[in-house]
Amino acid sequence: MDVNLLQVLRLVHIVCGAFWLGCAVTLGFFVTPALLTGDVGSAQRLEHIMMRGKLGAILPVTVILAIASGLWLYRIDFPQMQIEFFTRRALDYTLGGFLAIIAFIVGISINLPTGSKIAVLANAIGPASPTAEQGAELARLSRKLLISSRAVAILTLGAGAFMALARFAR
Ligand code: HEM
Repeated sequence: MDVNLLQVLRLVHIVCGAFWLGCAVTLGFFVTPALLTGDVGSAQRLEHIMMRGKLGAILPVTVILAIASGLWLYRIDFPQMQIEFFTRRALDYTLGGFLAIIAFIVGISINLPTGSKIAVLANAIGPASPTAEQGAELARLSRKLLISSRAVAILTLGAGAFMALARFAR
């Protein structure tokens, strides 16, 4: 096995995985609960962080890099998938990878579209007061994003924990 390739894959995987985990925990446990109170101003501030602050573009790229390099490392580490080669270490990486992929699916199927809908609605309302209908929709979307971003934070924390435990698992 090419040691340089392994080093590059581990560098990309660990740096991007750490960035993803950090962002998921910060967004899920601190930013969305503090900002998404259901009013227009808070939705516009969140949109500012994600769009103008570019986190909405940087985070998906790092998530994809973390998953792609993780899958590549997994293929290198565990080329045999028969049950007799399935060690505790392999199980931990498998469970960690599985949780991370579920977090990715929740992120692209719920967080991304809900966040985009909040941004579109907040921009449509602008400095004016929202109608009763717009206010209700904003509160509903904010609650949804609050729950899904917390779920992603818990899933990525679980993935990170399994990755940390795997190396010396017997
Ligand atoms: C939240 C996402 C993730 C985080 C934070 C993360 C973190 C880490 C860390 C810190 C290590 C180094 C462990 C050590 O050397 O003791 C590692 C290794 C590894 N990860 Fe992940 N990981 C994530 C997602 C994934 C995914 C989706 C896969 C795909 C199955 C994966 C597969 C692996 C493998 C196979 C290794 C062992 C690499 C080696 O041979 O040294 N990881 N991960």
